[in-house]
Amino acid sequence: MTETEIPTIQIIDAKDYVGQTVRIGGWLRQKRGSGKIAFLQLRDGTAFFQGVVVKADVPENVFETAKELKQETSLYVTGEIHEDSRSSFGYEMAVSDVQVIGASQDYPITPKEHGTEFLFDERHLYLRHIKPFATLKIRNTLIAATYEFFNQEGFIKLDAPLLTGSAPEGTTELFETDYFGQSAFLSQTGQLYAEAGAMAFGKVFTFGPAFRAEKSKTRRHLTEFWMIEPEMAFMDQEASLALQERYIAFLINKVLEQNDQELDLLKRDKDLLRSYTQLPFPRVSYDDAIKLLQDNNFDVQWGVDFGSPEETFLANHFSSPVFITNYPKKIKAFYMKRHPSRDDVVICADLLAPEGYGEIIGGSERDTDYDYLKARIEEEGLSLDEYNWYLDLRKYGSVPHSGFGLGLERMVTFVTGEDHIREAIPFPRMMHRIRP
Ligand code: 4AD
Repeated sequence: MTETEIPTIQIIDAKDYVGQTVRIGGWLRQKRGSGKIAFLQLRDGTAFFQGVVVKADVPENVFETAKELKQETSLYVTGEIHEDSRSSFGYEMAVSDVQVIGASQDYPITPKEHGTEFLFDERHLYLRHIKPFATLKIRNTLIAATYEFFNQEGFIKLDAPLLTGSAPEGTTELFETDYFGQSAFLSQTGQLYAEAGAMAFGKVFTFGPAFRAEKSKTRRHLTEFWMIEPEMAFMDQEASLALQERYIAFLINKVLEQNDQELDLLKRDKDLLRSYTQLPFPRVSYDDAIKLLQDNNFDVQWGVDFGSPEETFLANHFSSPVFITNYPKKIKAFYMKRHPSRDDVVICADLLAPEGYGEIIGGSERDTDYDYLKARIEEEGLSLDEYNWYLDLRKYGSVPHSGFGLGLERMVTFVTGEDHIREAIPFPRMMHRIRP
């Protein structure tokens, strides 16, 4: 076979080329061996596998080149594909030629030896390693599955602005910026715009970055994260909860179907993950959640928001994602619908993930009454000037409507089993991290 006839393939397709000579463009992850054999651990962005260079089987210069390769050199390797029952990937290459494309200097990262802070200082390189590879591939599946799900449910995507004048999720967590002499904020949520969209298109979702100046250093908070916010006209909270469950089950099933390799690389328990697609998810009122916590020796009083230990206990108690419904009005956003028979709670629900992954969805039915919302906005100390357009939605054909927000990175950590949210986004932004 002449060189031009040798197919160039991706590692992930090796199974289709057993017994054939192919060429693969990739990078060298690691190398070990002796004077007679070199084992090249290779990656190409689709998968990881091994190339074996046997001194006796290749021209002298090929073995010498292989022996001298440094970690992260980019190269073409040519050789025959074989099955390899010892590796989890199942295939390897008997390398017959190595062509260096880009040499590498001494590579700074050895994940086993370096701490997390160092790895994230070098995130632009750390992205090349197995854990980020697997985690971010799963993130990509969740993104694609989100579009697929909402398209098939009849939603359209509506892009909300990122520079805004409003602060619907609380004024303490705002990033303020100068907008030609006026003050503007980086968006905390696309929801208010999604509500306008729902009145125009019926069912919409926004999907974009959200910014919160979280001063807390927790495993669950980023200052810049991505949120999916569906908003549905003529839909009450019950129907919204059913939609949320279907969406979560759809996402998990897609990852189980499409990311077998990545779940294995991350050692995520697939049966456990599959168990979270059992619907419906339990629903527990905030009142009952408080009682349950108190019965289990938590020092919580009615009216407080739950912290991480409380959320973890509640979701683990049910061994499944669980909806906590109807929180106290005073700890929730102004737009949530009043309870028909109680003044102290609102029609809302948070979805808590099991295993300590925290709140993955926050949502509610929206109040539809102009006067009530105007009073609530004033009560919260928000500027009416910024919300008059939003109040217009209640003046011109207001309808019952509901919506929710799923935090993409929270979902990624839950599905992948990562213990820190910084793993779930390519370049995390946190209180003490804005580079690279
Ligand atoms: O509960 P939240 O604040 O709800 C809203 O923003 C509503 N406007 C949503 C809506 O009804 N349209 O946030 C929704 C979700 C949370 O459940 C969580 O998953 C995620 O967004 N989230 C964060 N993720 C990472 N870092 C942070 N600082 C986050 N804050 C919220």
